[in-house]
Amino acid sequence: MKQFLILVLLSMLLSACTGAAPAAPEIPPTPAATRDPDPDGDGFTGEGKGTNAAAGAQLAKTNGCLACHAADGSKLVGPSFKGLYGSPVELSDGTTVIADDVYIVRAIIDPNMQVVAGYAPTMAGYGHLSDEEIGHLLAYVKSLK
Ligand code: HEC
Repeated sequence: MKQFLILVLLSMLLSACTGAAPAAPEIPPTPAATRDPDPDGDGFTGEGKGTNAAAGAQLAKTNGCLACHAADGSKLVGPSFKGLYGSPVELSDGTTVIADDVYIVRAIIDPNMQVVAGYAPTMAGYGHLSDEEIGHLLAYVKSLK
């Protein structure tokens, strides 16, 4: 009797579902870019950009990056920086990109534009950092081979 009731309930639920108009798939809005890391298409050539990996390591510490990103290959809240530069990265939309300068700078400025597959888009953008600071951070990530 119990099973029969469950069956009736289930079939009612099913007919309710199929009777309703199909729900539109949820398409997350693509966030607008706060700053284009490569406006002229020749790579990240920010005004007076930094190139100092040691300064970048310091900035990664003071800006809290290392709370979510490891430098030794271990997975924290975000992917590790180790070996990232120049390697293929699978994104949540199913595409794969190579982590070049522009990709990494964009990941820092507008992290939700290209989200790494398997990770939640929980990183806040660091568009308030200067080109010099972003350049140092990029040099730091590049140094972690
Ligand atoms: C609250 C945790 C958090 C903080 C703080 C954080 N990130 Fe992230 N970051 C993530 C997550 C999660 C991802 C993966 C999802 C995505 O792509 O947005 C990510 C992705 C990235 C990527 C792309 C990584 C890859 O494997 O392709 C880079 C580069 C990056 N972050 C750099 C930084 C830098 C530099 C800082 C500090 C200025 C920082 N992040 C601060 C969580 C964080």
